[in-house]
Amino acid sequence: MRRKLGIVAGLVEGRGLANPRRRPSSGVAAQMALRQGIGTGKVRAMEGSFLPMADGDSFIPGPATERRFRDALGLFATGVTVVTTRGARGPVGITANSFASLSLDPPLVLWSPARASRRFAAFASAQHYAIHVLGEEQFALGRHFAREGLDFDLPGVACNPEGVPLLTECLARFECRRHAVHDGGDHAIVVGEVLRAAAREGTPLVFSAGHYGRFTPR
Ligand SMILES: Cc1cc2nc3c(=O)[nH]c(=O)nc-3n(C[C@H](O)[C@H](O)[C@H](O)COP(=O)(O)O)c2cc1C
Repeated sequence: MRRKLGIVAGLVEGRGLANPRRRPSSGVAAQMALRQGIGTGKVRAMEGSFLPMADGDSFIPGPATERRFRDALGLFATGVTVVTTRGARGPVGITANSFASLSLDPPLVLWSPARASRRFAAFASAQHYAIHVLGEEQFALGRHFAREGLDFDLPGVACNPEGVPLLTECLARFECRRHAVHDGGDHAIVVGEVLRAAAREGTPLVFSAGHYGRFTPR
């Protein structure tokens, strides 16, 4: 059974400890506390209590643990993007949260289309494409391109000089030229050189554990 780590919260808040600056020395709670900076004077306040990872929570990713692996990966909160390109049959879009910045000089970004996707060929072979970072109010657009890749009958669609469909109301946009496509298991890793970038004020749409949400700064 999971143990509740009230002690760590208590340590952080300086409760239940004669000397709150004393370095905890051993055990899961102590290691977590050290990782949090407790005992180094770095952590002054933390709200609530949380559960530690017990040894039994560890598993080897494989067919029998696919759900647990997905759930663990899903705890990494991301933004949400829509990637667009012009395929053989016209404009194609896909919702993707595998986007990451890669390099400032040269300006490179990456994302990962799934090989199983019906849209894979269009994106893996695209010479030009655009990555749109969605604002928190644009979750319907995220849902749309998760379901449907070919329907661009939407407000706010333009076209760049390379023929790539652009969604004009997004938070940020990166117009890319193919730089490299690497093997990534059941996905490909698509690296793009950013030819043009744009951004507006706003707050990002966030995706975590299968849910859309919003980012609240502390
Ligand atoms: C928040 C979110 C993020 C996603 N990220 C990716 C991604 O990074 N790569 C990918 O190939 N599919 C991703 N998908 C799935 C696609 O958007 C889409 O649902 C899937 O490609 C549908 O299958 P199809 O292309 O065969 O129609 C994501 C879906 C959601 C809702």
